[in-house]
Amino acid sequence: MATTLTPILTEFWDDERSWSMETYERYDGYQALRTALGMSQGDLIQTVKDSGLRGRGGAGFPTGMKWGFLPPPDGGPRYLVVNADESEPGTCKDIPLMMAAPHFLIEGVVITSFAIGCNHAFIYLRGEVVHVYRRLMRAVEEAYAKGFLGKNILGSGFDLDVTVHAGAGAYICGEETALLDSLEGRRGQPRLKPPFPAVAGLYARPTVVNNVESIASVPAIIRHGADWFTGMGTEKSTGFGLFSLSGHVKRPGQYEAPLGITLRELLDMAGGMRSEQHGLKFWTPGGSSTPIFTAEHLDVPLDFESVAAAGSMLGTRALQIFDETTCVVRAVDRWIDFYAHESCGKCTPCREGNYWMKQVLHRLEHGQGIEADLDKLLDICDNILGRSFCALGDGATSPVTSSIQYFRDEYLRHLPSAENPEGGCPFDPAA
Ligand code: NAI
Ligand code: SF4
Repeated sequence: MATTLTPILTEFWDDERSWSMETYERYDGYQALRTALGMSQGDLIQTVKDSGLRGRGGAGFPTGMKWGFLPPPDGGPRYLVVNADESEPGTCKDIPLMMAAPHFLIEGVVITSFAIGCNHAFIYLRGEVVHVYRRLMRAVEEAYAKGFLGKNILGSGFDLDVTVHAGAGAYICGEETALLDSLEGRRGQPRLKPPFPAVAGLYARPTVVNNVESIASVPAIIRHGADWFTGMGTEKSTGFGLFSLSGHVKRPGQYEAPLGITLRELLDMAGGMRSEQHGLKFWTPGGSSTPIFTAEHLDVPLDFESVAAAGSMLGTRALQIFDETTCVVRAVDRWIDFYAHESCGKCTPCREGNYWMKQVLHRLEHGQGIEADLDKLLDICDNILGRSFCALGDGATSPVTSSIQYFRDEYLRHLPSAENPEGGCPFDPAA
């Protein structure tokens, strides 16, 4: 069930058998592929560039520009790899999209592969979601049976095979180069960039790595044109996107809307906070790797520029909503547990820093902290941020620094005092 202001990717999620080829074709599915096969590769790439589509996996890098970075053909293979390893805490858009309407992704894969001259595409899926793996495999089979995949697609002379690969459930394998290592059968750890995958990616060949939602948005852009897409969203953050609301709201779920919508508007669509008695306390605009916001930020437009100007990142549009019953220290403690566990261990600032942040937060949360621990946490963050090998380390510092910025007093209330002699969390976990 999804609520939508822009019924595109979510248009028929509530239909019975929304995931089937029959439903997708009923909503004009695979018409964009017919159009694309009649276009030149250059025109297809230009259309996506003109649309302004920016990567929906979190970083927001322009998709058409990324395709344009591939070197000229040299007779060897080049690959498309779809990053379907959705694992960022709070992020739940790609998995519902692949469950409800997998053919958006498959059609996007065929169009993108044709545009970049790829004959073998891979979908790298998070290992834990076996139900999604089955659904994707079924959709791929349906597409082969209809002649949308395989040899001489729709008589165009273009051949494409698709492999769906399930990972083993490591968060770091969502980092694009760790993902490529994992796909090649090695332990997933980030590679040094440059070279970027566009130049040397899978099996050291030119590779486009794109997020599920980015690729699934391509058929609509080809069908309706770049101007239609730029007519939604803001000047630099064009189009629509899936916003995932979770936590203390009446109706959590996926909300499809133009970029630039605010949390206040999304909360109205979601029925408001779960209880009238407890207001909004803090929230993440794009998953736990993005600095938290508070009730002051309810009207920040959720586009790349506005969120950055307000001190955070749009990221994956994973809006985790926490009301006044939540202890911010406990929430941050849980997030850092996650990062410490998922750190791949390749570089010291992230491997050691997350371990130490976990110890300090844990003792603060349990009443054994001292005031100097706050500066210690900030100092550790300073030693991780910008000094780590990949974005995981940087991202782990976001909840710590931003929560201390907005809720320093609440951290201090965890220290033993006359009001709280034992120290520790002053919140009632049952609230
Ligand atoms: P990035 O900014 O380093 O790269 C973004 C993309 O642009 C990559 O595909 C990269 O290869 C490409 N690129 C950048 N500069 C390039 C150049 N000069 N030439 C060719 N290609 C170039 O960001 P990164 O590390 O890929 O992603 C970080 C983001 O991932 C975070 O902001 C976070 O929001 C998001 N994330 C998403 C998760 C999820 O579950 N969807 C999980 C964790 C993080
Ligand atoms: Fe591994 Fe963390 Fe270093 Fe990334 S920042 S390479 S996850 S240890």
